[in-house]
Amino acid sequence: MPAKLVPKLAAALDARADLIARLHAEETDCYRLFHGSVEGEAGLTVDRYGPFLLVQSFHVFLSTEKLAAVTAFYAERLPGLQLFYNDRSRTNSRIGNPLEGEALLAAQVPYEVSEIGVSYVAQARHAGQDPWLFLDLRAGRRRVMQEAAGKSVLNLFAYTCGVGVAAAKAGAAHVVNVDFAESSLAVGKQNAKLNDLPIRPRFVQSDVFAAVRQYAGIGQPAMVRGKRMPSFPKLEPHAFDLVFLDPPKYAKSPFGVVDLVNDYAALFKPALLATAEGGTLICCNNVAQVDRDEWADQLQRSARKAGREIREFEWIEPEADFPSLDGRHPLKMALLRV
Ligand SMILES: C[S@@+](CC[C@H](N)C(=O)[O-])C[C@H]1O[C@@H](n2cnc3c(N)ncnc32)[C@H](O)[C@@H]1O
Repeated sequence: MPAKLVPKLAAALDARADLIARLHAEETDCYRLFHGSVEGEAGLTVDRYGPFLLVQSFHVFLSTEKLAAVTAFYAERLPGLQLFYNDRSRTNSRIGNPLEGEALLAAQVPYEVSEIGVSYVAQARHAGQDPWLFLDLRAGRRRVMQEAAGKSVLNLFAYTCGVGVAAAKAGAAHVVNVDFAESSLAVGKQNAKLNDLPIRPRFVQSDVFAAVRQYAGIGQPAMVRGKRMPSFPKLEPHAFDLVFLDPPKYAKSPFGVVDLVNDYAALFKPALLATAEGGTLICCNNVAQVDRDEWADQLQRSARKAGREIREFEWIEPEADFPSLDGRHPLKMALLRV
């Protein structure tokens, strides 16, 4: 069995030779080395984060034999990179192979990695499940860096604030990161600290619904699903030049429901209204089952309903370390001039 896996890893690495050279030349040392769903081993991914490799398996368990083959392959082809394995095969994709002692300590070492000259902290294991930098979003961060100079930037569902830190590094005038998770914003603050940023980004710990409605100048509903809303940080209305909207697939909070399959509009509308006239809104939808053209139609309809025109619509494609057989990536990123 591993004998069949190794040639696939080798083909994936060979196919990336030029890309990896280009990435290294622009100071990027984190990228996907193996994207199993397309490269022949569904559920298996191998990512490089600077000095370490993160192997993850989703939906399927990676046998000890296969893991040994993967480890041996990269030890030979990319020597010196420490390899960690996170078994995410359980239905909730939580890491299912606990580490102890020295192995755990090694996995919890924070490393500084680099993407397009911006530094980020990365750890193989931490309190959460997902890596602190989503690599398929590099194309989005790259585009933000091209757009950000002199702009005010709102980063919604900021997580570890990669988009906000990239924007600040690229010369944004003002950056606000919004997320309700204090622990994620704490990593975002570390990311900001690692870089010699010309401005001090703002970190707002808040529900996105509560924050973006205030920026957009629209009122909060008194009740959501029959319940009073808890208190929330007060923010002044503000129209941003560049808004980045990258929500999770599904999340329920006292302020509203994030549901990228059934109700993107609930987030899109206030995000659009928090975008200045003549500004840019980049929105993402990472749910594979959502068809990209249907989603684009929904965005157009929601914009019309909100009384705003989409003057230009452009797709941002994930980069070549995330290959696709049909050009239809699960992660859809749309840049709208509004
Ligand atoms: C998939 S991550 C977003 C990735 C991020 N945009 C990036 O650049 O890496 C989802 C984030 O949404 C946050 N989140 C989910 N529901 C939220 C809500 N209602 N208000 C604020 N943050 C929320 C989570 O804490 C998590 O950090």
